[in-house]
Amino acid sequence: MPATVIVGLQWGDEGKGKTTDFLAEQVGMVVRYQGGDNAGHTVVWGDQVFKLHLVPSGVLYPHITSVIGNGVVVNPATLIAELDMLTSRGIDVSRVRVSRSAHVLMPYHVALDRANEARLAGEKVGTTGRGIGPAYADRAYRIGLRMEDLLDRSVLEARIERVLPDKNLILASLGAETFEVRALVDQAVAWGERLAGYLDDATWLVQRALAAGEHVLLEGAQGTLLDLDHGSYPFVTSSNPVAGGAATGGGIGPLQIDEVMGVMKAYATRVGSGPFPTELTDEVGQGIASRGHEVGTTTGRPRRVGWFDAVPLRYAVAVNSVSSIMLNKIDILSGIPEIKLGVAYEVDGKRVDHWPSSGSMLGRARPIYETFPGWSEPIHEVRALNDLPENARRYLSALEEHAGVPIVLVSVGPERSQTIERAWRPMRHRPPVAV
Ligand code: GDP
Ligand code: IMO
Ligand code: MG
Repeated sequence: MPATVIVGLQWGDEGKGKTTDFLAEQVGMVVRYQGGDNAGHTVVWGDQVFKLHLVPSGVLYPHITSVIGNGVVVNPATLIAELDMLTSRGIDVSRVRVSRSAHVLMPYHVALDRANEARLAGEKVGTTGRGIGPAYADRAYRIGLRMEDLLDRSVLEARIERVLPDKNLILASLGAETFEVRALVDQAVAWGERLAGYLDDATWLVQRALAAGEHVLLEGAQGTLLDLDHGSYPFVTSSNPVAGGAATGGGIGPLQIDEVMGVMKAYATRVGSGPFPTELTDEVGQGIASRGHEVGTTTGRPRRVGWFDAVPLRYAVAVNSVSSIMLNKIDILSGIPEIKLGVAYEVDGKRVDHWPSSGSMLGRARPIYETFPGWSEPIHEVRALNDLPENARRYLSALEEHAGVPIVLVSVGPERSQTIERAWRPMRHRPPVAV
């Protein structure tokens, strides 16, 4: 039965929160499948703004079961604060479920992330400082704690006693704070008591929902270009935001995925370090950043802004097997006389049409642009594609042509209703554009 993956096609912050919230009205379950509280998903509902880091963006609807899948690393303090925030604003969180197998992001992971970034100085990744890399590293090294471990003091004592000496050694050598076993165990036990009622066998929850014919949305965090395998390593996150990650992190098999909806915005942004060929450092970029409120939800850092780059778009459509696209924030381009679209690169004097897997090659890539005439009028009120200015439609068609799959939803403002529905049910694959 239908499972739809929602995946970011750029460097994160494409508006996945808005997309998930918009689609969630029609489904029964939303599952977050990777990442942690490095994510910041903003949902605007009427005059209310919700900033979510761990709880899936469907939570605002009372009929949705919101699942935090096994692929997520959970900072329990953040989760508890988010549940409290939602409750205080009248949102029912009784249908939130957290996988027992999801890993716990501990305070020493946060300390290690920050100390390590400080040591890297000019070479730093520019992480969100949320401990994501160290938590996933412990998971891979098989020394992590899982959410179910929070329910058993003796397990917590044994595990924390085993790992903490090494953590403290590294932290001390980096001049950072160290931790005590007893205090951490007490803290973890308290988290377990508070979260016990939310823990569940998430895989079977999802499988049962699919077997019962419910439509399940799998919500990714970050984006394809921050993927540990497919992004510009090492300037990436430590999980797999790509659609394949929805299978491993959401508890489903690849053949259970029915649709992959890619989410992108009409220009590009990137937070943190790493190559960004179409980056704008002029006043056009500053204008986009300020109209688009391009400030990190999680860290408050200004986001780097650039023209849309079709080179990684073609790559992202391929590695995610994207079947349909939601295009967000096209309203932010109103008023720009000429809009540029990156279509290829020049690297060492040669034209390159493919997204290079080599980070150093990407660092030397210079964008080759096509230029499109802009439009001056605001478009927040537009609800039908044909009512968009002709030049906006032309730009949209060019994006669609590069993607090779249909743009089925177009967002013209942050609010749920500021959405142009071209086709509700995502359409099936069109033959991809040759790359
Ligand atoms: P996510 O991490 O992919 O969920 O994206 P973020 O929530 O971090 O960033 C997207 C921002 O753009 C949020 O503040 C959204 O409210 C806002 N947004 C989403 N779609 C649109 C749109 O079509 N127009 C405008 N103006 N804002 C949008
Ligand atoms: P959402 O889900 C944008 C970036 C960081 C850094 C790199 C690694 O809101 O789209 P990490 O803390 O994950 O180890 O940092 O990834 N990054 C994001 N950028 N949106 C996000 O999430 C991000 N999550 C991580 O800025 O460059
Ligand atoms: Mg975000």
